[in-house]
This record gives sequence, structure tokens and C-alpha cells, in this order.
Amino acid sequence: MKFLLFVLNLETKILTSMARSLISTGCRVSMLTMIFSLITFSSMMAQTSSTDGETLYLTRCNSCHQADGEGITGVFPPLNEVDWVTGDKGRLIRIILDGVMGEMQVGNTVYSGAMPPWKTFLNDQETAALLSYIRTAWDNNASAVTENEVKLVRKATAGRTQAWTAEELAAKENQGVPGAFSFILAPPDTSGSN
Ligand code: HEC
Repeated sequence: MKFLLFVLNLETKILTSMARSLISTGCRVSMLTMIFSLITFSSMMAQTSSTDGETLYLTRCNSCHQADGEGITGVFPPLNEVDWVTGDKGRLIRIILDGVMGEMQVGNTVYSGAMPPWKTFLNDQETAALLSYIRTAWDNNASAVTENEVKLVRKATAGRTQAWTAEELAAKENQGVPGAFSFILAPPDTSGSN
């Protein structure tokens, strides 16, 4: 297993450095897209079943968002000290399950890429471990995500077949964990009361 992780990490490292040099030489966009698909493919095919958030991060997310969580400016957004990560949990869980595409402002930079969906690759327990990890890694210091919260959001968004857009995620109905606190947040039922 350790060996497999090592090989995989090496492979994504090579792809990432290829992407970096292509970006700096101002290469054709189609070429970059091809490299990104390869990175996506190699991180998705990783046969890791771990409940350790850091291990999951290193196999699934590291190639794009980097070990220091700073991403690659203009191409892959940072996860360190970013509201998308440390803010609303429901929104973050949605991003991981179905991915996100189109224009998205992260810090002072506007990204326009595509983040792959993970819902068929990570179960509730793995997703919770991974998200709890990124919410506390580097300079982040946010609360953990529980398996039950992932389960509730997964259930509520089960019909989703496309990646989210930042615009959709700004809507209240696409934030929060449905059902988790409804008994506190639900307005009093005044209909037909007598
Ligand atoms: C193939 C590259 C790639 C991989 C692998 C990847 N992401 Fe992303 N991610 C992106 C891109 C590109 C965006 C921005 C999408 C856009 O511009 O709409 C993004 C956006 C995000 C965002 C919202 C913006 C931000 O920076 O906070 C989060 C959170 C995120 N990714 C977490 C993850 C996690 C967790 C993993 C591992 C399960 C992961 N990503 C794997 C490319 C990737």
C-alpha cells in the first residue's frame, strides 16, 4: 500500500510539474486541458480506501490544490484560509460531492476551471474525514464535518447530475445541512392553527 501511494504521488507530481511548465511557456489551452484530465484521472483511479483525512487529501486533491493548500495561482484555487473551505459546511460538502465549474472568486482571484465530482469515489465516512482535515490543515481552524452531515447533504442532492456553479452555491437553498438543525431554524408553523 505504501509503495502504491508512493508511485501514485510520483505520477501526479510529474503531471503537475508538466502542467506548471506548460503554463509558464504559455502553451495551447487544449494541451493543458489534456494534462488536467490526466491529473483528474490519476487521482480518481487511486485505489485508496482510508479513513485518514490527510492520506485521502494526498491521493485525491494534492495534485491540483498542492500539499501546502495554496493551489497554483490562476489555475487551481487555494484551500488555505478560504471561506469556501472554512465557511458553510453544506456548501463545502456540495462542492466535493458534485464538483464545481465556471467562474468562481477565491480570495482576490477569479478562477474559471472545473473541479471533478467525488460522490462515487468517496463514501460518507471518507468525505467527512477529508473535509475535517482540510478545515483544520495549514492555517485553517474550522469545525469538523461529521459523517451524518455528509449523509444528509448527499441525500438532499441525490438528483444532481451536474457540477455546481458559484452562482448556484450563493443561493440559500444550496447551503447548510438539510434536516440537521431544522427543529431550531424552522419558523413556527402558523398555518391553520386554531
Ligand atoms: C483536477 C484538479 C482538481 C482536483 C483533483 C481537485 N480539485 Fe478542487 N478545484 C479545482 C478547480 C479547478 C477548482 C475551481 C473550479 C472553478 O473555477 O469553478 C476547484 C475548487 C475547489 C474548491 C472551492 C474553491 C476553493 O479553493 O476553496 C474546494 C473546496 C475544492 N476544490 C476542494 C477539493 C478537494 C477536497 C479535493 C480532493 C477530493 C479537490 N478539490 C480535488 C481542481 C481540482
